[in-house]
Amino acid sequence: MLRALPAQDSPRRTDREAPVARGGAASRVITSWKQETKLWRLGRIMSDSSGRLYNPRMPLPVRPMVTIRRTSAADIRTLHAFELDEASNELAGTKPRDWPTFQRRWTEILADPEGRATGVTPRVILADGVLAGAINISPQDGSDTLGYWIARTLWGRGIATRAVALLLREFTRRPIYATAAGHNVPSIRVLEKNGFEMVSRCVTPETSRTVQRETVTLVLE
Ligand SMILES: CC(C)(COP(=O)(O)OP(=O)(O)OC[C@H]1O[C@@H](n2cnc3c(N)ncnc32)[C@H](O)[C@@H]1OP(=O)(O)O)[C@@H](O)C(=O)NCCC(=O)NCCS
Repeated sequence: MLRALPAQDSPRRTDREAPVARGGAASRVITSWKQETKLWRLGRIMSDSSGRLYNPRMPLPVRPMVTIRRTSAADIRTLHAFELDEASNELAGTKPRDWPTFQRRWTEILADPEGRATGVTPRVILADGVLAGAINISPQDGSDTLGYWIARTLWGRGIATRAVALLLREFTRRPIYATAAGHNVPSIRVLEKNGFEMVSRCVTPETSRTVQRETVTLVLE
């Protein structure tokens, strides 16, 4: 079972050798301590249950096995590292939150596991057991609204499509809404493949979380 390690701590080291990634494929080997530390800060170092380190840029199977589970405090650092990725924000038309803001929000969500106060259903996405992203349903303007985020290194493997299908099976209240930047074709495609239909398209102003952009709204009735 693979798990993400918190990005802020030092990686565990039991010897002086460069850590070798799981599986032994050349592309998975972390070749130097410097590289390892840099990746660690970026939240891109993972360890398996015996503490071996590997680089999740490794080639996962093209279609990994996707599962979702309840989000835990141990996931938050890695999810924040995913949220900081520039290309992801460009695609989503969003602005990343700084760590204190992100941490404050997640402390509130995790303190309310049934979502009675926050109304949030928080889940993480695992690809072959590796933390690959987040998927949540949260109330926006009084409606259940779906959002998701996949680590950039894992895009294009069907992970979001499958994770949405899994959460829709678990969360059965309808309708569910989702919004996406008009240019975020992959996200719109993920939603349409799960039965969502476009209901509106308009330019939305800049907010603390989004840039000014064309925003499309989709619904699953
Ligand atoms: C959007 C996002 C969640 C997609 O995740 P993913 O795991 O790569 O998605 P999937 O692999 O399940 O599916 C992507 C679909 O978009 C398609 N796609 C990707 N780029 C495309 C493009 N430029 N034009 C048309 N289709 C495109 C893929 O082919 C695939 O469809 P298919 O299965 O019919 O071939 C991911 O890019 C992401 O996390 N982006 C940053 C955050 C974000 O945008 N979140 C959503 C906010 S609304």
